[in-house]
Amino acid sequence: MTDALRNAAIDILKTNDRGRYTVPTKGLYPFQWNWDSCLTALGQCHFDENRAWTEIETLFAHQWPCGMVPHIIFHQMDDGYFPGPHIWGTDRPVPTSGITQPAVAGFALKRMLDCASDRQAVTDRLRALLPKVAAWHRWFFATRDPHDEGLVAILHPWEAGRDNSVDWDDPFDRVPTDGITPYTRRDTMHADPSHRPTKAQYDRYLWLVEHFRALRWDTSKLHDASPFQVVDPGFNAILFRSCADLADLAEDLGESGIAAENRSYAARGLAALEGLWSDAHGQYLCRDRVTGALIDSASVGGILAVFCAIPQARAARIAATIAGHGTRYCVASHSPHDPRFDAKRYWRGPVWLVVNYMIADGLARAGQQDAAAKISAASLALIGKSGFAEYYDPMTGEALGGGEFTWTAAMVLEFLAATPPSEAT
Ligand code: GLC
Repeated sequence: MTDALRNAAIDILKTNDRGRYTVPTKGLYPFQWNWDSCLTALGQCHFDENRAWTEIETLFAHQWPCGMVPHIIFHQMDDGYFPGPHIWGTDRPVPTSGITQPAVAGFALKRMLDCASDRQAVTDRLRALLPKVAAWHRWFFATRDPHDEGLVAILHPWEAGRDNSVDWDDPFDRVPTDGITPYTRRDTMHADPSHRPTKAQYDRYLWLVEHFRALRWDTSKLHDASPFQVVDPGFNAILFRSCADLADLAEDLGESGIAAENRSYAARGLAALEGLWSDAHGQYLCRDRVTGALIDSASVGGILAVFCAIPQARAARIAATIAGHGTRYCVASHSPHDPRFDAKRYWRGPVWLVVNYMIADGLARAGQQDAAAKISAASLALIGKSGFAEYYDPMTGEALGGGEFTWTAAMVLEFLAATPPSEAT
């Protein structure tokens, strides 16, 4: 069974491979997505290391001069997706979106180096990528942390990668919807509309895009001009983990400046993250930077914080919080104890394998091996039951969203590689 799963995962990665980048899935997402690519490369490493490095190199070839790495690269035109390049209007040689996504590249590169069959052979490629990732990290702190708090804000829900989480509902009240250009959604043509964001949410996504476009995508201006500024613990944790991992890589290569800079971002960030902890919720929470208040929303963003080196006692409490969800398949993207939980609507309840992977990795590093093993087993059980979906109902395990999903397949290869054969489904 393990071999069959492995082969099925590799088939999906190959089917969605467009040569130098991989699409998340046919139809619904026909371009290159930022954090999808970085996590996809981890799967590709298990059967084609060279191809894995190319995936990340392609992404960074489209980095903006300011350092930002965009969330979508529109390599080829495709009318099946909205909002396309003309809506973003970013004026890049190859069109891209104008916002970013979780900075998981630093982590991915360290993992790829650790898995490399010949470390020497990939050193030049790593050396070329290192300053690019460092520039991206610098850009985050320069443009998204204007008061030097050590924490960065997202300015659009799509930046978090958790597009329509409950976390954004309250801050979204401030985002107007008037004056947006009439539009036709495409996502609901590929997936069940009741599993996708509502029209009220979509209008606000687009209002923000049009607002930033009117500022000509000057990334030094967007933070202060945005009515939506949210400090997401999961997003920050991914950045801090990447900073720490990049610092390790830089040290190995004798790049002491990059190493020191990134160690400092990680250390300051970890200290500041404590301000987002909620004992009542048993997890971290988002902070609305406009009002200064924590957002009362027990989403997986505050659980994902375990991906960076939080104190062990916090990790133990997070493990208990996950167990307390009581869903058959973990980890639900929103607490089932919150009335806003929705088992089928994306990011408001369903399980995502990429998130499971990062949570399991963080828990294991913090000494919570049993909790990590449960997540890994639940992830493989979901695949065995429902195939390689975009996301899953945490109660029934039903497959939801797009099918034949790239990063789901990549994560399966990672979970299988870490699971003793006798325990794999
Ligand atoms: C959805 C997800 C986002 C992901 C993208 C491509 O928009 O919310 O995190 O990057 O799909 O898979």
